Amino acid sequence: MTTILSHPLVRHRITLLRDRATPPKLFRELVGEITEFLAYEALGDVKTREVDVETPVANTRGARIDERIVLVPILRAGMGMLDAMLHVLPYAKVGVLGMQRDESTAEPVPYYAKVPPAKGDELALVIDPMLATGGSACDAVQQLKKLGYVRIKFLSLIAAPEGIARFERNHPDVPVFSAAKDERLNSHFYIVPGLGDAGDRIFGTL
Ligand code: PRP
Ligand code: URA
Repeated sequence: MTTILSHPLVRHRITLLRDRATPPKLFRELVGEITEFLAYEALGDVKTREVDVETPVANTRGARIDERIVLVPILRAGMGMLDAMLHVLPYAKVGVLGMQRDESTAEPVPYYAKVPPAKGDELALVIDPMLATGGSACDAVQQLKKLGYVRIKFLSLIAAPEGIARFERNHPDVPVFSAAKDERLNSHFYIVPGLGDAGDRIFGTL
């Protein structure tokens, strides 16, 4: 299942993110802010446990997150979302998957993997700004399943209909959360209207 965020605070930021005049510093800040909104949406069902808490005024009951979480950015653009995820989930563990699209076929070429094997039912959150053909996302989730992960969610900033369809076909058990759903892919497998090359815009390598 795919959830697309429609909140005005998100749409405002996505519009600034798309703007070709947005410089890398602002681009990175926007990626972080949108990522926090995505985390808010994606983690609405995170497990909590009831705890006692003593305020300056009275004793009361509260909730603490009671879930082991592993964040998995797909290199390199996924790194742009990592700080924001760690900001809202400071105790999460981090594994990384390196993947580069083949420029002619757009198929992912994995080049690095450092993810802790699953120990139980921890939640893996895969983060990557772009879900274009869906090749990178599908491959990343496949790798996590081989490592024993059974609870996985995928978070992206912009998704193409083609990528969503491929991902849902291959991994119907993995929910997707995206801040925008665009029109289509172009002949170079870039998302239209999209925002261009997310990695280049985050790292200033245009
Ligand atoms: C981009 C993006 C995704 C992938 C999406 O990475 O960050 O990982 O493309 O495309 P797909 O859905 O067609 O697989 P890219 O390969 O450009 O590498 P980079 O992050 O190093 O820039
Ligand atoms: N990767 C990007 O960075 N942008 C796209 O539009 C597609 C893949």
